[in-house]
Amino acid sequence: MQGGFLLLIASLCVGEGREITKSLSVQGGNWGTWGQVVYCPEGSFADGYKMKIEPPQGFRDDTSLNRVSLSCRDGTTLEASGDVAPHPHTQSFGTWGPMTSCQRGHFITSFALQVERPQGSDDDTAANFVKFTCRNITNGESYVMIQQPGAGYWGTYGPWSESCPLGSAVCGIQQKVEPYQSILGDDTELNNLKFYCCKHI
Ligand SMILES: *[C@@H]1O[C@H](CO)[C@@H](O)[C@H](O)[C@H]1NC(C)=O
Repeated sequence: MQGGFLLLIASLCVGEGREITKSLSVQGGNWGTWGQVVYCPEGSFADGYKMKIEPPQGFRDDTSLNRVSLSCRDGTTLEASGDVAPHPHTQSFGTWGPMTSCQRGHFITSFALQVERPQGSDDDTAANFVKFTCRNITNGESYVMIQQPGAGYWGTYGPWSESCPLGSAVCGIQQKVEPYQSILGDDTELNNLKFYCCKHI
């Protein structure tokens, strides 16, 4: 019993048994709270993403980018190992777009976020789009991977995050989401993202 408890604590500290080498963060929006970190299965890394986006609403409240989900792939066998679950808040707008992926054998190692700055009494949307770099886990060569059309409706891209150290790649995601603001409120939903790098082998 006690051994099991200690094992549980130890595995929470390293992210479900994963060895975290770095966390990647950027400047995001002002609102919301961080959800839990969700990880790819042991031995797997993120190699693609999809976004839940609400198209422009005209005179009604816009929220733009609302959630991000990662696809995972085993770092050794290169078999697909499922998608990691989005942030748990249930009230959410928009629809999921397609998965955009790195070339097989490449994994996500850094990101940049397009954020709309606060609009005062006007309609805020916060995070609008995200792009990544993919890196060959063997030789370290990397390139930018962006879902088309490459940017969201409002705001500008901030600088790139730091990169996962060589020999590691993104294995976990955390989302900062503003909860539903009621029918009269100004919702923004997704405000920021954080990614966690895990050691490969
Ligand atoms: C990754 O790098 C290795 C070593 O240079 C190379 O053999 C392999 O083809 C590269 N993988 C991809 C998907 O480009």
